[in-house]
Amino acid sequence: MEIELPYFDMLLDAIAQGDRDTIDSFGTHVHWGYWPEPYQADGTVADFASAAKRLSECVYEAGGIKNGDRVLDAGCGFGGTTGCLNERYENLHVTGLNIDRRQLDRAESLIKPINNNAIDWICANACELPFPDNSFDRVLAVECIFHFPSREQFMREVKRVLKPGGTLALSDFMLWPIAVPLFKVLNFFASEGIQQLYGDVGSTDFTVSAYRRLATSAGLTLETDFDITRKTLPTYPVLKEICRRFSFADAERVVEGQERASKFGLVRYIVLSFRSPS
Ligand SMILES: C[S@@+](CC[C@H](N)C(=O)[O-])C[C@H]1O[C@@H](n2cnc3c(N)ncnc32)[C@H](O)[C@@H]1O
Repeated sequence: MEIELPYFDMLLDAIAQGDRDTIDSFGTHVHWGYWPEPYQADGTVADFASAAKRLSECVYEAGGIKNGDRVLDAGCGFGGTTGCLNERYENLHVTGLNIDRRQLDRAESLIKPINNNAIDWICANACELPFPDNSFDRVLAVECIFHFPSREQFMREVKRVLKPGGTLALSDFMLWPIAVPLFKVLNFFASEGIQQLYGDVGSTDFTVSAYRRLATSAGLTLETDFDITRKTLPTYPVLKEICRRFSFADAERVVEGQERASKFGLVRYIVLSFRSPS
């Protein structure tokens, strides 16, 4: 399966050219940052890099990872979250899975197992997981599910590969339910700018209630949902600065649109956790 992710093409170009700010901001973690006290964000790349690590932490803590777990990091990007798990825990077996081989090559070159952990990198589609039933204690999907061909299929696959009592934790952009009709009329996520920067994110018009229904039909239970939108807002100035380096001239304008929608609470950043029955 081929997938077009223009922002990864642009990131990989900037990284290949040795652009220091791109490498330090989005060269390992490719997701938003988390600031417990957003007013303390100082707008620097170093501050953003720490916040990006903290966002990974929010997701894997929601997943309740323990030493010795077998973990799947689905849509692992350049391996930022896998790298954090490797530093924090012992005796883990982590599988980083991505559809894009180029990203896995970078992940593999950046992250070496420590703390008696084992890491493998698998190139595959998250909606067709190449693992037997009951393979994992935890599945993580940090800011990637909106790219997958189907959230429903992914949840079914996660239920299949999770051991009984296992957990899934993910982060996703969701709509404030009242805003759903507005976004449909505007065709916001299918707009040319969004497509040219992010590729296909067509299934982003999703809500927490929709997740609850989806989980139930996949055989999982939604356990927690944390709205951390406000604590991610300092991401936007840093992202806009990085976008100025991209060949796609409208990138900054697209990010400004996202920033406005998030500041007005129309688009929310939510961390969710689910459990498979014991
Ligand atoms: C915004 S990035 C997040 C990367 C990583 N989780 C992180 O937090 O740094 C989205 C990721 O989803 C991956 N992806 C998109 N579609 C996928 C699919 N069908 N199966 C597996 N990975 C996919 C992309 O290649 C990309 O690495």
